[in-house]
Amino acid sequence: MKKMIPKVRKAVFPAAGLGTRFLPATKAQPKEMLPLVDKPLIQYGVEEAIHSGVQNILIVTGRNKSSIEDHFDVSFELEHTLEQKGKDDLLAIVRAISDMINVAYVRQKEALGLGHAVLRARELVGNEPFAVVLSDDVIDAETPCLRQLLDVYEFYGASVVALMEVPEEQVPAYGIVDAEPVEHHGTSDRLYRIRNLVEKPEPSKAPSRLAIIGRYVLTPEIFESIESIGPGAGGEIQLTDALRHLLRNRPIYGYRFEGKRYDAGDKLGFLKATVEFALKRDDLGASFREYLKGIDP
Ligand code: G1P
Repeated sequence: MKKMIPKVRKAVFPAAGLGTRFLPATKAQPKEMLPLVDKPLIQYGVEEAIHSGVQNILIVTGRNKSSIEDHFDVSFELEHTLEQKGKDDLLAIVRAISDMINVAYVRQKEALGLGHAVLRARELVGNEPFAVVLSDDVIDAETPCLRQLLDVYEFYGASVVALMEVPEEQVPAYGIVDAEPVEHHGTSDRLYRIRNLVEKPEPSKAPSRLAIIGRYVLTPEIFESIESIGPGAGGEIQLTDALRHLLRNRPIYGYRFEGKRYDAGDKLGFLKATVEFALKRDDLGASFREYLKGIDP
């Protein structure tokens, strides 16, 4: 008999980083609230989780968390004003955000690393599989990236990380995997079985150029693994190190997802995402394109 694979119902959003790469913009607000065109980064991730069928959102916040909470909360004054002014389209947008999700918050008092942030969600996640979404990684895809990982999880019942090939000089910025391709639904170019993982290796020590991108589906044993490891790269408790620990007892898969990923945690990546998302918008695309064409190089 095939064993029952429990459903993923919760997604954890670490949002307690210091956002130093975006200072001074992130001095008094979390980087997750920086807008791409007119929507904060974290909302792109939350929408991806919802469109992937994951309804419960757990946000691990740090200092300056209030703007995130306010964003996903009902704004009575704003709704009232928009209603009075007859701005129904804006009202619908504002209402959709607070209607969208079941959200809970947990505090990470110190930014001690991604693994540490995920461990903070343990009580709220409980003993079930869950997703982790890093809002810095904005992924534009026909099938949401998280949904692609969930399809693999629902088949194998094991943890899955999103993978993308990166140029060699970017290897030290990522968790890098050693992995062998696995045949899946008749193809063998997207799914991998992970053999090892290294957080931010020097290029000479990297096992490949396959980098972990900020989408994970994790089985709950990961919490014990996080508790068992010490600080790793940068003196932080790394999720990648916990995955390597988990690998001793459980299989882990990697999926080279379909879609375009933007590194919105980096200034250039953020600008690229802004421009490309604006160009795709029905209300802005045409005039923005005209404007860009006319800029003096
Ligand atoms: C984190 C992870 C890293 C992963 C990356 C993806 O690093 O630790 O393994 O490759 O996200 O964006 P960070 O970007 O937070 O330094």
